[in-house]
Amino acid sequence: MTTTTSRYRAVHARSLADPTGFWGEAAQEIDWIAPPKTIFDPAMGLYGRWFVDGVVNTCYNALDRHVANGRADQVALIHDSPLSKTVTKLTYAQMLHEVATFGAIMRDMGVGKGDRVILYMPMVPEAMIAMLACARIGAVHSVVFGGFAAKELATRIEDAKPKLILSASCGLEPGRIVHYKPLLDEAIALSHIKPDACIILQRPQHGCDLITGRDHDWNALRATAIAAKAQAACVPVRATDPLYILYTSGTTGKPKGVVRDNGGHLVALKWSMFNLYGVKPGEVFWCGSDIGWVVGHSYIIYAPLLHGATSIMYEGKPIGTPDAGAFWRVIAEHKAVALFTAPTAFRAIRKEDPDGAMIRKHDLTHFRTLFLAGERADPPTVAWAETQLKVPVIDHWWQTETGWCIAGNPVGLGLLPVKHGSPTVPMPGYRIEVVDEAAKPVPAGTMGSIVIKLPLPPACLATLWEQDERCKEAYFNEFPGYYKTSDAGYLDADGYVFVMGRTDDIINVAGHRLSTGGMEEILASHPDVAECAVLGIKDAIKGEVPCGLLVMKAGVTRPVAEIEKEVVALVRETLGPVAAFKLAITVARLPKTRSGKILRGTIKKIADGDAWTMPATIEDPKVLDEIEGALKPRMYKAVFEA
Ligand code: COA
Ligand code: AMP
Repeated sequence: MTTTTSRYRAVHARSLADPTGFWGEAAQEIDWIAPPKTIFDPAMGLYGRWFVDGVVNTCYNALDRHVANGRADQVALIHDSPLSKTVTKLTYAQMLHEVATFGAIMRDMGVGKGDRVILYMPMVPEAMIAMLACARIGAVHSVVFGGFAAKELATRIEDAKPKLILSASCGLEPGRIVHYKPLLDEAIALSHIKPDACIILQRPQHGCDLITGRDHDWNALRATAIAAKAQAACVPVRATDPLYILYTSGTTGKPKGVVRDNGGHLVALKWSMFNLYGVKPGEVFWCGSDIGWVVGHSYIIYAPLLHGATSIMYEGKPIGTPDAGAFWRVIAEHKAVALFTAPTAFRAIRKEDPDGAMIRKHDLTHFRTLFLAGERADPPTVAWAETQLKVPVIDHWWQTETGWCIAGNPVGLGLLPVKHGSPTVPMPGYRIEVVDEAAKPVPAGTMGSIVIKLPLPPACLATLWEQDERCKEAYFNEFPGYYKTSDAGYLDADGYVFVMGRTDDIINVAGHRLSTGGMEEILASHPDVAECAVLGIKDAIKGEVPCGLLVMKAGVTRPVAEIEKEVVALVRETLGPVAAFKLAITVARLPKTRSGKILRGTIKKIADGDAWTMPATIEDPKVLDEIEGALKPRMYKAVFEA
């Protein structure tokens, strides 16, 4: 059931039948230093590599070529921060000047091609400048989300081994200032790997002390470099060279460093801006994510600029900065044609403004499309957004690993009918199949593991940073010839994809991907905790929130409420506030199978109030009654009285 006007079916079919022809053509939208002669080499890398002999510079494609082609005075970035009460705009020419200056600063500090630079920064223009400057000099950036605590940052420092770390004195959250510098200092102290230097942006809201010999003041370096007219040139890199590493939750506390290349990333992202998002060069695009997530990398920083569009970076929340009309104010004020955000943001807005009164206070005539991703777009939220906004609401499915949309509804090619609950259809290059445990395809409408036939299209992960074997193990070994998404779902008779949940221990909290295994490691480290289980339970706004069940060690006599509080604080200190871990409940025992596996699925059903059946393999059925007794009153309090 496709509309006859959409070019989607033909385009997707061609991308699978003739991938080199398809992506070779798409690659012509990029300015190459040496255009690729080999579009795809199946013998390279873990499943082949794209554009292997191409030479390119990502920053050149994001900035220099637009300045050279008449966009010098067009705004490249609008930074809108209700938290600092500022709006800052940089034209393409100004952005290029800033980026070349910061590139020169890093280069003169000894950062070169292939060196890693970690960013632990708030949503400020300098973060975009620094990411593009890394791309310009061939350095590999790795952005760590500001809501992660020192230990998480330390793990990433250990793994990426950065020469340089970029940070700021503080971030701004509603009602509180996040002091980044002490977290950075603690992370460096915890890590065996020490950077050569740190560059710290002093924000006016709160300054910090700098460590002599290690820390440098961002603005002082900038002033000196500008006075010296220091500008970095674009460094040619191979298409297959890494552009960035982005860490994402794995099934343990050790995050996975997804490696993104330069060439494939350029080609796929540029293709997506019109064909998927329906945005034309010169228009204003707003992605309301954070630069610490893949969506922020791709659609705040790179894709809009590769396309010659204007990108909005927003330092605020959907509600409370100052109210549930914040999104509509930004769209109207900057004439954004599209917004890309997470369903959780809409659930939050809907709760505050159920009738959409705030929406009607703003002129949204330029606004054409709402895109949702990061978690399953629940049908009631999509329906509410459609009714209120009267524009197409497009759910699309993503992973950090893919770098761009796996399944979506392509506005530029012609919209397909929307089916609530489905992110629609596979994008070019993705052959999606649903299989059972024996890797056999299941019939339409049947749930199974969602897998993608290799090769993955351009922009998808090349490997995990310095861990090819872990990458194979995580993604390629279980279903040979396929990439395992670790998402479960089904395809319907029209080829629409329905993504229903994860097959591993990952939970999705307010659009943020978190590992319950990682949280269990933290809980288990508490001296009074003998055993624990963490599971995601339903939450009306965040979709899911983590809940920890604790079994105390024999002989613990302290009040359990005290220990529960300590455990909550421990997760916040170790993983970070982003985990939203607020609920720890003590139980006498955990329900297990006879082979000792904790029955997390059944506990989750009990906690969510869903129907559940007694698992045949349970060791002692009475434990579930105990769990129900312990959970019910606490759940009600946590979920309904929060
Ligand atoms: N630095 C430091 N702390 C941060 C942070 C950052 N960059 N980002 C979030 N946090 C903190 C918050 O202050 C909060 O701390 P608290 O426990 O002290 O309140 C905690 O981490 C959880 O933050 P968040 O997930 O943003 O929840 P919230 O309750 O503040 O706001 C929503 C709820 C729904 C409004 C918010 O989650 C939201 O806008 N989500 C959209 C997410 C999104 O766009 N994801 C991108 C995927 S496409
Ligand atoms: P991340 O790597 O942080 O982008 O998270 C990726 C995971 O989020 C996916 O594996 C899915 O589980 C979930 N996800 C993202 N977008 C969607 C969507 N549109 N529908 C359903 N799940 C989604």
